[in-house]
Amino acid sequence: MRFRCVDTSGGALQFSPKRTCNIIVATAVLHNICIDNKVPDPVGRAVINDGNDNVYRGTLNDGTENMDSEDKKAFEVNARVFSGGLSKEQVIDYYNKWDDYEAHLQPGRYNGPAYAAEAVDRSFPSNKDTIEILDVAAGTGLVGEELVKKGFKRFHALDPSENMLRKARMKNIYEKFFCEFLSVEPSPNISNGTYPCVVCSGGFGSGHIPSDGLLEMIRITKPGGMIIIVMREEYLNIPEYCNSLEPLMKKYEKEGLWVCVEKSIVHKYFCDKTGIIFRFQVNQNSQ
Ligand SMILES: C[S@@+](CC[C@H](N)C(=O)[O-])C[C@H]1O[C@@H](n2cnc3c(N)ncnc32)[C@H](O)[C@@H]1O
Repeated sequence: MRFRCVDTSGGALQFSPKRTCNIIVATAVLHNICIDNKVPDPVGRAVINDGNDNVYRGTLNDGTENMDSEDKKAFEVNARVFSGGLSKEQVIDYYNKWDDYEAHLQPGRYNGPAYAAEAVDRSFPSNKDTIEILDVAAGTGLVGEELVKKGFKRFHALDPSENMLRKARMKNIYEKFFCEFLSVEPSPNISNGTYPCVVCSGGFGSGHIPSDGLLEMIRITKPGGMIIIVMREEYLNIPEYCNSLEPLMKKYEKEGLWVCVEKSIVHKYFCDKTGIIFRFQVNQNSQ
C-alpha cells in the first residue's frame, strides 16, 4: 500500500473535510506520478480484507472490473502463479496441477502464443520447414501449435513442469523435450550456439525466468540467430525485473552480444492487458 493514510489499514484522516479532500487529491497526484515514472508498488504491501471483494490488489485484479465471469476466473487463476512470493518449486507445482490451463488461457483471451508465432514469422520468412526453434517455457505447447499454422515444422520444448510438457508431448509436434528451468546456469544438455531461433511466450514474470536467464538464451542461440520474447508489458515493472530485465537487455546490447531489432507493444496480450514483444538478433561474434 503506497498511501496508507487514505486506506482503512492506516486508520482515518482526522482533519477538516477540506483538508482531508486536499490530502486525498495529493495522494492521487503522487500516485499518478509514480505510475508515469514506473515506480513499482512497494513490496509486501498490506492487503486488507475489509469485506470489499473489489479491493485493489495490483496485478492480481487490476482491470478485472469489467470482465465477464469466465475471463475474470481465468485472470485470477493465472494471477495466482504470477503474483510473487512463490518459490520456483511452488511455481512448478502450480503448473503441474493446473489441468485447465488451455481452457483458461485459450486463444482470444491469451494471445501471447499467436503474437510469438507472428514475431518468429517476421524473423524467418523463408526456409520455415528446416529452422530449428527452441520454445522456452513451452508449457503445453501453444506456441508450437501457432508456429505450425505459420508453416514452421521443427521445434524443441524446454519447461520445468513435467505435467505441462506431457500435454505438449501429446501434440506430436515437438521433436525434443528438456524438462528444466532456464536460468543463468548453462544447461548441460544444450551446447553453445545450437538454435537459429529461441522463442518464449509467457515465461517472464514473478517467480518464472530470472532476468539473467537472458544470458543463457544468448548462449544457446546460433550467432546471427534470433531471440523472441513476448510477455505482459506491466511485468517489466515488477520488483524482480524493474532494475534488471530491461537494464540487462541494454547492457548486453552495449557489450555487443545482441541487437534489439524490435520492441513493440501489442493489445489484448492477456484479456485487456498489453503485451510487449522483443526481438533480438544475436551477434555473429557473441560466443
Ligand atoms: C504462462 S506459462 C506459458 C506457457 C506457454 N509458453 C504458453 O504461452 O502457453 C509459463 C510457463 O513457464 C514455465 N516456467 C516457469 N519458470 C521457468 C523457468 N525458469 N524456465 C523455463 N520455464 C519456466 C512454467 O512451467 C510454465 O509452463
